[in-house]
Amino acid sequence: MISITHKLAIYGLLAILFSPHLFATSSLAMEHEETTILALSCSGCHGPDGVSQGPSIPSIAGLPKEYFTEVMLGFKLNQLPSTAMGQIAKAYSRSELTTLAEYFSKKRFQPSKQAFDPSLVKKGAKLHEKFCEECHEKGGSSAKDEEVSILAGQHLRYLLWTLNDFKKNKRKASRKMAKKMRKLLKKEGNAGLDALAHYYASQQ
Ligand code: HEC
Ligand code: HEC
Repeated sequence: MISITHKLAIYGLLAILFSPHLFATSSLAMEHEETTILALSCSGCHGPDGVSQGPSIPSIAGLPKEYFTEVMLGFKLNQLPSTAMGQIAKAYSRSELTTLAEYFSKKRFQPSKQAFDPSLVKKGAKLHEKFCEECHEKGGSSAKDEEVSILAGQHLRYLLWTLNDFKKNKRKASRKMAKKMRKLLKKEGNAGLDALAHYYASQQ
């Protein structure tokens, strides 16, 4: 039988282990903890630390803060087409969305190890250079421009869906991007969008 002193020792240990002070010794640590909990509700779909296991859910690790915030507000205000995010974003205040953007922008984007059609990659690269590189720099891998998201290494099915949303005008592109998309579609049609998506998916 466990003696009373042993029991007290165990309770004491438990009390220390579960004491909030052990984890959060300052308000900064406390804030950090809150952010981590906030972000946990995203990892069920977007994967641990925002690196999605795919195929139709985008990775959100390393996306620029400004793009992230804009897109979350877009979901919240029903300005972007969505299957899930329209509902989800409504549950967060603007300041929580900023906090989440900050949090995920500091994580490392990891290109998805995914299947793609190698026969489309060369054509996709050419089209990218001609129509898209101006804003989606370094083959779509750059996260330097705060307003633009990462395309290279994003999940293929998500890319195809999103490109289709732009094509159908369900998602409104900026005036300049819309112009390039129109030119691309006129020249290449849907095959052009396929080639671009496979080119982005090939970057691993
Ligand atoms: C139920 C699954 C699910 C959950 C939970 C979820 N997401 Fe999403 N997320 C998606 C899907 C699917 C998309 C693609 C848009 C859509 O169809 O809603 C997406 C898109 C996004 C995008 C746009 C990515 C891009 O490249 O433009 C961001 C940013 C995002 N989610 C952030 C979050 C954050 C932050 C949370 C947690 C607060 C979260 N998501 C929780 C499924 C989810
Ligand atoms: C004039 C600059 C510009 C050009 C050119 C441009 N884009 Fe964009 N693109 C943007 C900006 C800014 C965003 C983010 C804001 C938005 O959603 O409109 C974006 C967003 C996207 C997204 C959504 C990413 C995501 O994570 O959901 C895709 C996909 C995309 N662009 C593909 C393309 C392709 C393919 C081309 C070439 C045919 C292209 N863009 C040309 C500026 C541009």
